[in-house]
Amino acid sequence: MTLKITTVLGARPQFIKAAAFHRAITSHNKHGTARPVRSILIHTGQHYDDNMSSSFFSEMQIPKPDVNLGIGSGSHGRQTGRMLEAVEQALLSQAPDMVLVYGDTNSTLAGALAASKLRLPVVHVEAGLRTTDFKMAEEINRVLTDNLSDVLFTPCKDASRVLRSEGIPEGRIVFSGDVMYDNTLYYTDHLERDPENVTGIEKGSYVLFTFHRAENTDRRENLDAIVESVKILSREMNVVIPLHPRTRAALLKGELLADVEKSAQVVEPAGYLRMLSLILGAKAVVSDSGGIPKEAFYLGIPSVTLRSEAIWTELVDLGWTRTVDPGSSESILSAICLALQGDPGRPGQPYGEGNSARLILDELVKRYAHE
Ligand code: UD1
Repeated sequence: MTLKITTVLGARPQFIKAAAFHRAITSHNKHGTARPVRSILIHTGQHYDDNMSSSFFSEMQIPKPDVNLGIGSGSHGRQTGRMLEAVEQALLSQAPDMVLVYGDTNSTLAGALAASKLRLPVVHVEAGLRTTDFKMAEEINRVLTDNLSDVLFTPCKDASRVLRSEGIPEGRIVFSGDVMYDNTLYYTDHLERDPENVTGIEKGSYVLFTFHRAENTDRRENLDAIVESVKILSREMNVVIPLHPRTRAALLKGELLADVEKSAQVVEPAGYLRMLSLILGAKAVVSDSGGIPKEAFYLGIPSVTLRSEAIWTELVDLGWTRTVDPGSSESILSAICLALQGDPGRPGQPYGEGNSARLILDELVKRYAHE
């Protein structure tokens, strides 16, 4: 009997994660299994610009979403509430065997909540991560989604420990490793290898900056400190910044965009391969993204996390990234200096073996596919 898995996604990093899972499903179905898997994608529409959404589907060969709810931007309550209502409707008409969600965005929470209210099994990929900073929308989304989930796939052993300590039953927790590691390994072969083609600047001669977190874009003190760091750093090194639409809007509003454009090479938000290529060509990476410091680690590039707490604490422990006070340009610049001194992190691979999507799919088939 076919196992129907509906995935609810909506934001850039989730499209990338879905690519790894899609490859695992394709390979599973190819092997003439008695338990084929049918994948259904519900796109909430949280991200909607071409370079934030559809370009990922074409570049990473993910099938087009079966449903696009077109929710778009809005305040957190409004955005999540509208998603909840629309996802419920879609799930009622699809009647899947389970609902899978990735990560910690508003789309993740809406998908998990809609499914659990319909008593559909909820599968959370990238479970158990915590910063304990409840001022972040993502932290709220993580904790709630984990508590709603029936199977929780963790990217690292620490995340499994966190879930146990919060009283999640052992039988629900499965260490899978990180699906993004699967992707980095898979796509490294497909890279536009020479970042000079992308940036027009020499490999190893620039620092790559990305920032889009509300705490950094909407808090003036942080935005000023980050821009100041870019300005000072650009006297010594090239700085490249792929600009998230929220960051562009915040810089414009704060009358800082012209300053940034004078100091740095500002480019459009990058697709996945281009971003890997930009990371690979950088001397160091500075980012408030959850995923980018980890991708830098996979590619052997040191990073600075533009936050006071790192979500991937193993990267801090191994010395591959450093957290900073994002409201202080001194703190940001001194961490960048250390990263640039080329003090590489210690070896270690806490995030599995690059076969996480396959492990996740096998586990779901084992648990839910009945003859
Ligand atoms: C969301 C996630 C964040 C994740 C990020 C990946 C939440 C709470 N946060 O943050 O965890 O790291 O996605 O990128 O879900 N905008 C556009 N075009 C788009 C998308 C966004 O212009 O296609 C602008 C809008 O002004 C919007 C703002 O960016 O209001 C923020 O977008 P939103 O999806 O709410 O949050 P992100 O910052 O992208």
